[in-house]
Amino acid sequence: MSAPQQNTGNEKLPRHVAIIMDGNGRWATARGLTRTEGHRKGAEAARHAVEAAGELGIKYITLFAFSSENWNRPADEVNDLMNLLRYYLKKETAELHKNGARIRVIGDRTALPHDIVKLIENAENLTRDNTKITVVLALNYGGRQDIVSAAKDLAKQVKAGEADLSQIDENSFSGYLMTGDIPDPDLMIRTSGESRISNFLLWQMAYAELYFTDTLWPDFSKKDLEQAVAYFAGRDRRYGGLSQSHGMQG
Ligand code: FPP
Repeated sequence: MSAPQQNTGNEKLPRHVAIIMDGNGRWATARGLTRTEGHRKGAEAARHAVEAAGELGIKYITLFAFSSENWNRPADEVNDLMNLLRYYLKKETAELHKNGARIRVIGDRTALPHDIVKLIENAENLTRDNTKITVVLALNYGGRQDIVSAAKDLAKQVKAGEADLSQIDENSFSGYLMTGDIPDPDLMIRTSGESRISNFLLWQMAYAELYFTDTLWPDFSKKDLEQAVAYFAGRDRRYGGLSQSHGMQG
């Protein structure tokens, strides 16, 4: 069995932070605003979180911007989320590129509006060689779908004689996932007091530290990110082995 992908850099700083941005609706309702206004503020918070992650030296940040279950929301709300996505892809791509960010999108993009697919392709192509930070947007993403589609790709390759079943292990299987070239998250943050994983990066989060905060996503600031990173720095990651700092306590 292969070892999990471990964070081998500065152990106190997560290399990859994945965020479930939750609470836009409740933030808006509490202020007598529409849910759309909550998402708008949430999108601004996402932009600031990326900036803050870059300043802290985090190399990968994944944002769960639209889940495969979000299609079940009222059509107007889905439409508003697509409009926001369109707006930010148009407005922020050049700025992110200027700041050395590489943009990657995971999820089933075939169900997204065609012009958004074009904007995504453009953003990915423009920024593909940047190295300061990788910003992964999870759009129409589901963790189980990711694993099923990886298993199907692998099965196809085995059937065609292009892959050897006896050579498949955890590491090589990871390469078939939508995050194939991205290290596993070290830290997962979920806002708004919910403590569920909600079909996010299921395989990839096997060894992630999980951090839940009551802060609603539109209020999430650099200070909140720093708090989550401080929580991470205080954890003793053992990957199933024994504790480094507490001797035999495990
Ligand atoms: C959860 O709030 C948030 C989402 C459904 C997706 C996250 C979207 C954004 C941060 C806006 C930016 C998005 C794009 C696509 C650019 P909620 O509506 O579930 O909040 P609630 O649980 O309080 O109702």
